[in-house]
Amino acid sequence: MTDLRKNWRSVVEGIGSCLPEKRVTNSDLEKTVDTTDEWIVQRTGIRERRIAGPGETTSTLATRAAMEALANAGRVAADVDLIVLATSTPDYTFPSTATQVQAALGITHGAAFDVQAVCSGFVYAMTIADKFLASGSHKCALVIGAETFSRLLDWSDRTTCVLFGDGAGAVVLVAQESEGRVSDRGVLTSHLRSDGRHREKLFVDGGPSTTGTVGHLRMSGKEVFRHAVGMVTDVMRDAFAATGTTADDLDWFVPHQANERIIDASAEKLGIAPAKIVKTVQMHGNTSAASIPLALSVACADGRIKRGDLVMLEAMGGGFTWGSVMVRW
Ligand code: ACO
Repeated sequence: MTDLRKNWRSVVEGIGSCLPEKRVTNSDLEKTVDTTDEWIVQRTGIRERRIAGPGETTSTLATRAAMEALANAGRVAADVDLIVLATSTPDYTFPSTATQVQAALGITHGAAFDVQAVCSGFVYAMTIADKFLASGSHKCALVIGAETFSRLLDWSDRTTCVLFGDGAGAVVLVAQESEGRVSDRGVLTSHLRSDGRHREKLFVDGGPSTTGTVGHLRMSGKEVFRHAVGMVTDVMRDAFAATGTTADDLDWFVPHQANERIIDASAEKLGIAPAKIVKTVQMHGNTSAASIPLALSVACADGRIKRGDLVMLEAMGGGFTWGSVMVRW
């Protein structure tokens, strides 16, 4: 194993999540669009998803996830000097959802901003927060993935509306001194990529500067699928190379939860054992930037992910954007 940079390492101290109350099963969707439970399960693995109700917004879900993460870390809001929130479904065009969370938590110092990288949002946000902490400029970050994708969906389009769900997850990342060893806790390496030529394969057909509307999500599912496995396995290979580790060293693989077939194919391509895969897509659907912290939250709560475990995160989404983060938990 290779030695990494010295000094500050971004260590995960706590995790939290929040799901809307309303549960929508595939059978519920059978009543509103021309689809079947069998089709959805077979193509995606999804069985149900949560949908935000009146009064639930991206910032309210994010705030509850953040409060749970702070409690889990044994921290108070005043400790936080950085909030990086990944979302493509902000409460408002501006101000950022991160500043709404900051206000709801009663924080008036430090910095808060949103990151927009669609389904790769959490991987981007973790990477950005890690760079801030590693530079020594900030000490305690809330990194949040939060979405209300249900509000971007065309509920008459069966090719997209069955795939997505709402929710939020958050981690508390704290700067700790490190000797730079791969065996030390914290973010070990991250690799971000994007290629804007793929816009039309996955996009929202509205926006303040074009239509003046919010728009609806549009996706060529087959095209996205075709690129996904190659892209995410590339950046995971980068993570293995940077740390001198292999798939055998991983304790847990926590991918973006878009589609069970993409997850399984990516794991198989890299030789990651099925027992190491954390999957929540069946109960959450694709919650975009929220899917990884939601999955992490489930696997921490049920005792699978433990302190010291080697965890690989990866995601791919609209843009295209994609990336990986390797963390010693
Ligand atoms: N119920 C029943 N039938 C359906 C449904 C549905 N909900 N949706 C589509 N179909 C039909 C299609 O109309 C088509 O019928 P036809 O053959 O008569 O034309 C047939 O099912 C097959 O459709 P395909 O689109 O070819 O189905 P595919 O096997 O590709 O599965 C899916 C579609 C699940 C969307 C898949 O392509 C996929 O998962 N793509 C990747 C999506 C993804 O991972 N996105 C991640 C990023 S998301 C982000 O960044 C926001």
